[in-house]
Amino acid sequence: MRILVTGGTGYIGSHTVLSLLESGHEVVVVDNLVNSSEESLRRVGELAGRTAAFHELDLVDESALESVFDQHSIDAVIHFAGLKAVGESVQEPLSYYYNNIVGTLNLLRAMDKHGVRSIVFSSSATVYGEHNPIPYVEKMEIGANNPYGRTKEQIEDILTDLGAADERWHIALLRYFNPVGAHPSGKIGEDPQGIPNNLVPFIAQVAVGRREKLMVFGGDYDTPDGTCLRDYIHVVDLAQGHVAALDYVSARPGVHRWNLGSGKGTSVLEMLHAFEQAVGRPLPYEITGRRSGDLPAFWADASSALADLSWSTTKSVEQMCEDHWRWQKNNPFGYRQS
Ligand code: NAD
Ligand code: UD1
Repeated sequence: MRILVTGGTGYIGSHTVLSLLESGHEVVVVDNLVNSSEESLRRVGELAGRTAAFHELDLVDESALESVFDQHSIDAVIHFAGLKAVGESVQEPLSYYYNNIVGTLNLLRAMDKHGVRSIVFSSSATVYGEHNPIPYVEKMEIGANNPYGRTKEQIEDILTDLGAADERWHIALLRYFNPVGAHPSGKIGEDPQGIPNNLVPFIAQVAVGRREKLMVFGGDYDTPDGTCLRDYIHVVDLAQGHVAALDYVSARPGVHRWNLGSGKGTSVLEMLHAFEQAVGRPLPYEITGRRSGDLPAFWADASSALADLSWSTTKSVEQMCEDHWRWQKNNPFGYRQS
């Protein structure tokens, strides 16, 4: 198939473009590079031995998007493009709603106009909100508690309404848990701008000397070691989950929802210690106050993806840390030189 990947130069997108090329698909990427670099796609091309077509454009620019559908005969879309920082979304809700919702509406309208009605959408475990019991199961009622999460929930609603209104649509809603790690080559990986919000990118920057120490947000939770539990998933497993979901939905119309996670919780300190093993030395940290909005623990019930897609995670927390470290060590400033 020829797959349009929005946000394909980003962290998860670039790994998924590589998996798609390796699976024999043709790939067209659109991205406005607001949080990424075209260098990722150049390296994906090196790894795959062939390249994806690239168009630098913003999804809110409907006519630019239309012209991509005019130029390429697209069979299906994987939609990663969006803004994703929770704290920033609280400060700048209009930017988040405009970028994520308007961008998605433009994409869906362009798809419909060109008769392309298969889409895999990047949702998030954040849609489960604060009140669901763990592990999270796809059939639970959702209710995000921040503007970023609400854009995911609203896009899920839009896609669900679309699937109900027109049975020609093939829709996958993928709820990711906590993606970490990098391609084992060390050539592509996560390249956060500014101070990383997420745990593993922060630890990696401590290890490479860009940050002094890790602040562990809360050591007094009701968990085995007092720190929060999360369901970490290797980005290469996550990328392969997209290929599996695309294959599944291409053959079946309707709206399908899957959690993509390992089904297992790992604590902040366990993650730190696994990273220390990968690096081969202890890393400085300090236990500080809780981060507002954090939940003590959540992980996926990952049984639906296994049953429907024959997909499950294959890589351990140790492999996530080894691969993440290889990428960070080889690229201390990410895709930039300094
Ligand atoms: P990323 O920021 O690396 O990738 C997103 C890409 O979208 C970037 O390359 C950015 O430049 C592009 N983009 C943003 N707005 C755009 C627009 N209007 N037009 C064109 N391109 C635009 O993030 P990621 O971690 O790879 O996440 C990919 C998707 O997965 C996002 O939708 C994110 O919300 C979702 N997600 C991520 C995580 C995570 O922890 N990384 C967890 C759950 C869900
Ligand atoms: C974040 C997002 C969530 C998204 C998820 C998946 C927030 C508030 N939520 O959640 O929307 O779906 O990523 O990627 O950003 N931690 C530290 N020190 C740090 C950074 C993190 O102790 O410097 C702790 C956090 O308190 C948390 C754990 O590490 O307990 C994981 O944090 P993070 O990587 O930000 O992921 P989530 O909180 O799960």
